Amino acid sequence: MTAQLIDGKAFAADVRAQVAQHVKTLKDAHGITPGLAVVLVGEDPASQVYVRSKGKQTVEVGMNSFEHKLEADTSETDLLALIDQLNSDPAVHGILVQLPLPGHLNEDLVINAIDPAKDVDGFHISNVGLLGTGQKSMVPCTPLGCLMMLRAHHGSLSGMDAVVIGRSNIVGKPMAQLLLGDSCTVTIAHSRTKDLADVVRRADIVVAAVGRPQMVPGDWVKPGATVIDVGINRIEKPEGGTRLVGDVDFDSCAEVAGAITPVPGGVGPMTIACLLANTLTACCRANGLEEPQGLTA
Ligand code: GUN
Repeated sequence: MTAQLIDGKAFAADVRAQVAQHVKTLKDAHGITPGLAVVLVGEDPASQVYVRSKGKQTVEVGMNSFEHKLEADTSETDLLALIDQLNSDPAVHGILVQLPLPGHLNEDLVINAIDPAKDVDGFHISNVGLLGTGQKSMVPCTPLGCLMMLRAHHGSLSGMDAVVIGRSNIVGKPMAQLLLGDSCTVTIAHSRTKDLADVVRRADIVVAAVGRPQMVPGDWVKPGATVIDVGINRIEKPEGGTRLVGDVDFDSCAEVAGAITPVPGGVGPMTIACLLANTLTACCRANGLEEPQGLTA
């Protein structure tokens, strides 16, 4: 392997330590404790794991964690009533509704019912619009984590060619906006893109967020490029059992890239760290206090 490994786990630990320090200062100087409410509807096993992990890390940085677990058949009216209640609760600075929601619930309606100032996922249409127009917003956690690692590795991203593979609202589109905000020349590629290999080969920065295991081979990557792998896919091992892989073929890409994030231990740990950072940011804004530097876009 020739690429430098970008250690998301160490990075996330550093972000959490910075958040914890700010939380302590907020408590000592102002008597304020940031609070994050997480809403889980139903019993999706992967969502349960994420929500548990979020709650644990929230408490570890000194914030209050409020968990709301609702039955899978909860009505839209009841869910919206809970969101209303959290919107007006001064102890709650961040609200996250875990996705996906059960099929009978309208995700857009639910997300857009969250107070944009408490929308720590950055999914509300107001935050999407603010980000797209370069205004102060809440920034989606996974793209924010990717941006932080890219800035730390490169310093300035200005003038770099970036390709984002994947056009989801959660990762691809906001990632492209953030890279554009940092003056990259950005291409968003997707399942209908012609000559994807050629598009990727031109890029100094590749962000893969398609949800297809090991889709990007090393011979698509420009020598020395930085590869950020957002994918988390579980695949069968030939010898039995399963393992986690990303959207890029790590072994072949690591022979060509200048730097690469591993899976696991790359982007994944940064997502929750950025959720905590966003909750801290939301709390500072709600109280008219200066925002922490380096923890927002
Ligand atoms: N499900 C998978 N990723 C996410 C995320 O970033 N936020 C929420 N709310 N749900 C998710």
